[in-house]
Amino acid sequence: MKNLTNKKILFVICGGVSAYKSLETIRLFKKNNAEIKTILTKSAKEFVTPLSITSLSQGKVYDDLFSVENETEMDHIALSRWADVIIVAPITANTIYKLSQGSSEDLASTVILASNKQVFLAPAMNVRMWEHQSTKDNLKTLKNYGYKLIGPVIGDMACGEYGEGKMSDPLDIFNEINNFLSVQIKNKKIKALVTAGPTNEYIDPVRFITNKSSGKQGYEIAKSLSKRGFDTTLISGPTNLNIDENINLIRVETAEEMFKATQKNLPTDIAIFSAAVADFKIDKKNKDKIKKRENLTINLEKNVDILNYVSNHNFMRPKLVIGFAAETNNLDKNASSKLANKNCDWIIANDISKKDSGFNSDYNEVTIHYKDPQNKKEKLSFKKKSEISEEIVDRIVTQIN
Ligand code: PMT
Repeated sequence: MKNLTNKKILFVICGGVSAYKSLETIRLFKKNNAEIKTILTKSAKEFVTPLSITSLSQGKVYDDLFSVENETEMDHIALSRWADVIIVAPITANTIYKLSQGSSEDLASTVILASNKQVFLAPAMNVRMWEHQSTKDNLKTLKNYGYKLIGPVIGDMACGEYGEGKMSDPLDIFNEINNFLSVQIKNKKIKALVTAGPTNEYIDPVRFITNKSSGKQGYEIAKSLSKRGFDTTLISGPTNLNIDENINLIRVETAEEMFKATQKNLPTDIAIFSAAVADFKIDKKNKDKIKKRENLTINLEKNVDILNYVSNHNFMRPKLVIGFAAETNNLDKNASSKLANKNCDWIIANDISKKDSGFNSDYNEVTIHYKDPQNKKEKLSFKKKSEISEEIVDRIVTQIN
């Protein structure tokens, strides 16, 4: 794709010698019909002027948090919602630090903190600053948040030194964003359904059987899908989590409700089952609250297997069906048999024997088992669930496109 008509790009320019390269980057986007707004940090104004940017971009330049808040047509939230993508180029070591701390001390950091869009960062700094452990740690945090890096590259620097830390060329930045936007446009027509969270199976009106799923993994997958442009529906069991307004969120409580919501949302192109659906429900739920007694026997019966139903549907089977397998032992063996028995294209095996990953943690460690014998299984090592989701969705995008 090179025609970026209707695509809205928010440029953030930080203070650094390579700020001048942003003018060329903006020119490339403008030449391809993108709509552009720009935020200049205070120090960026030492290197480029609002006037030069407005003349090139024909779009508004913002530099002050308070003047934006006073504007009726666009506050800082509206500005972050307006964009299809945010590019911070150049980003300095200082702004990398500020973003890693969740700072909102100026307009640039506030808009980025409030954003639900993909943020790209094109760093530019001296090689020693780039190699410093603190910069590496801060960038690791930003990668965990789902920000994507473009460059930097190796070369001669304005300070006279040589090494890694030079901002990528405008054309490389343009091409990377252009690829991202073209995949996003293609994905807009692709429907993705995700199940997440636990289910509650009621014994009586106030008591139920449930499990420790927080929904975090499924919500992160839905977020990553939506950021790449997929038309995303999230069917969620009871959780405390919120999700972006551009995701179609359906809240349910029981496995039966999750099943009905899933049926209603077929057909879909991609289905990902990360929910920890209770395998059993109470065969006869008591209408009234059960009184205290010495013993209570409850009979359980099998719940419908939602994944099985979808993956074996005779005319509405999605093109890509992905199940999860939460296992405490024999991870590989159990995951492989679930892959076959549940007729999935992929099973994502989740080792839940470790305390700091899996259920109700911000971290996970998984292995993807593919049905296609050409693909070997792939381990995604211990990291934030947001990063695991990005890696899963990278693979979905490759498969679908
Ligand atoms: O929610 P978090 O706290 O972030 O934790 C994430 C997670 C550990 C719950 C998640 O990563 C995970 O592993 N989900 C699957 C949990 C599970 O119940 O696995 P299972 O092996 O019992 O089920 C296998 C597959 O069948 C799953 O895709 C499940 O969604 C699906 N299933 C199971 C039973 C059922 N009645 N219907 C289903 O669709």
